[in-house]
Amino acid sequence: MMATMAIIELERNSGKVVEEIVKLERKIFPKHESLASFFHNELKKKNSGLLYLHVDGELAGYVMYSWPSSLYASITKLAVKEQWRKQGHGEALLKAAIEKCRTRKISRILLHVDPLRTPALNLYKKHGFQVDCLVDGYYSSDRNAYRMYLDFDSI
Ligand SMILES: CC(C)(COP(=O)(O)OP(=O)(O)OC[C@H]1O[C@@H](n2cnc3c(N)ncnc32)[C@H](O)[C@@H]1OP(=O)(O)O)[C@@H](O)C(=O)NCCC(=O)NCCS
Repeated sequence: MMATMAIIELERNSGKVVEEIVKLERKIFPKHESLASFFHNELKKKNSGLLYLHVDGELAGYVMYSWPSSLYASITKLAVKEQWRKQGHGEALLKAAIEKCRTRKISRILLHVDPLRTPALNLYKKHGFQVDCLVDGYYSSDRNAYRMYLDFDSI
């Protein structure tokens, strides 16, 4: 039977979903890269949003974004549960987040990604993101990040 898939926007009061996402975040990301401990604060901010993916009613992935000002938006997190990878879900989540950011009247999306995260880097490149610069020690003293950007007038 085909799996039922849905990308859902997080509601402010869905505490149970947030707990599940925090658990997944802890599992996927090393401590210094994990938002787990301040996920709730991040979500309380007015200018942030989160979309999550349900496959057959189970949490399978999420994408978090924010628009700190009218200048730009930022994709702050993207993750798909290991057993659901390589099936287009990451791409679907990224596309949905880009569409959300588009509604905010900003012209650029920025993000940071560890150059060693090849799947993520390829996914962003596939969607038109370009490497802007290398930020030394972004995640920790020995882990750098690429800063990437996507300009809306260029797509
Ligand atoms: C990055 C991530 C979200 C991709 O999710 P996914 O559902 O597996 O991705 P998709 O199936 O939608 O793949 C889309 C594109 O991503 C790239 N990609 C995905 N997996 C890849 C892999 N193992 N190797 C190389 N490129 C890969 C490809 O460009 C792919 O397009 P293609 O299928 O046309 O080649 C997932 O690997 C993940 O959660 N990784 C750990 C967390 C992470 O690194 N997050 C990003 C930093 S915040």
